[in-house]
Amino acid sequence: GEYDKGSHEHFMRKEILEQPEAVRRCLRGRLDERFHTVRLGGLEMDAREAREFRRVKILGCGSAYYAGQVGAQFIEELARIPADAEPASEFRYRNPVIEKDTLYVAVSQSGETYDTLVAVQELKRKGGRVIGLVNVVGSSIARECDGGIYLHAGPEVAVASTKALTNMDVAFALLGIHLGRVRDVSPADGRRLLAAMQRLPEQIESIVADEEHLADVATRLAQAPSLFFVGRTRGYPVAREGAQKFKEISYRHAEAYQTSELKHGPLALVGPNLPTVAIVPDDELLERNVGALHEITARSGPLCVVTHDGVDLGVPAKDVITVPKSEPELDPLLLTIPLQILAYHAARTLGHDVDKPRNLAKSVTVE
Ligand code: AGP
Repeated sequence: GEYDKGSHEHFMRKEILEQPEAVRRCLRGRLDERFHTVRLGGLEMDAREAREFRRVKILGCGSAYYAGQVGAQFIEELARIPADAEPASEFRYRNPVIEKDTLYVAVSQSGETYDTLVAVQELKRKGGRVIGLVNVVGSSIARECDGGIYLHAGPEVAVASTKALTNMDVAFALLGIHLGRVRDVSPADGRRLLAAMQRLPEQIESIVADEEHLADVATRLAQAPSLFFVGRTRGYPVAREGAQKFKEISYRHAEAYQTSELKHGPLALVGPNLPTVAIVPDDELLERNVGALHEITARSGPLCVVTHDGVDLGVPAKDVITVPKSEPELDPLLLTIPLQILAYHAARTLGHDVDKPRNLAKSVTVE
């Protein structure tokens, strides 16, 4: 059953492996192949309304906030609406200006995170339009929102979120395509994106099939007391999520930076004892990213690169992890999956309680 580890050593591993099926569930009934768009009945929003938003503001906590950053990029790229994410825990305390033509999006696995719930209530009180991207059906946040998108990831037990986060990315992509298709995205582009969405489950299967290799890399990374995770633009929220997952369960210090910021400070720390996990998609920034990687290897920094199949990096990276190519807009989703597996195996090899890390709760339902 869903609340039973079955033959798995940990819920986290079970939930990582469940992702292809979880993504299929999130897509089911939502792809409209006739009009090359996405149907989201739960939004309770007609096309005219969907065209009127001038800004999108995404609120969530922890990893849900990083998923929100991925989501903001999807929406801005696909629908060309300015979008950003902010931790709900900060938003609720700063007396934010609520704009009537902003679409607010609350994102939460549990639907019970107190900071996110209070942010939604404050928005509602001031007349803001808030939709929810929530996994648990009928949860407090789901009930407070004016419609939304259920994640359908199924029950998640491990404190470190994996399949719910992946489905947050999927749901944001669906929202981005939906908002894009009532604006400037062409039917041809809609078709291209829908096809890419349909490939995701199989592509995730091929990533998790690389587990043995990833476990080997993780065992080595786990020896370091401190690590960097770097990425830029689409790769940056991926790096942030990768660092968060790693520290949550391995208790190693992991810090995320924009690759472009390394030379403005953090490079001072790079050397033989500080490995860097670099997210390097095969996109328009590839050459620049490779340039930054040379800065790391020139200082003998151990390097683990997460990139796309077929990329020739030309850098002496100790470890190279590849994922299948998606459409560039959707890259963050697949690039995140190996980082979950790295964190899992690092924690496991260090002998930690992977499913219940110290000091953390599955959902933070108090102030
Ligand atoms: C995820 O691995 C973390 N345990 C944590 O950051 C989590 O994402 C955050 O507390 C938000 O939870 P929610 O999605 O249930 O609102």
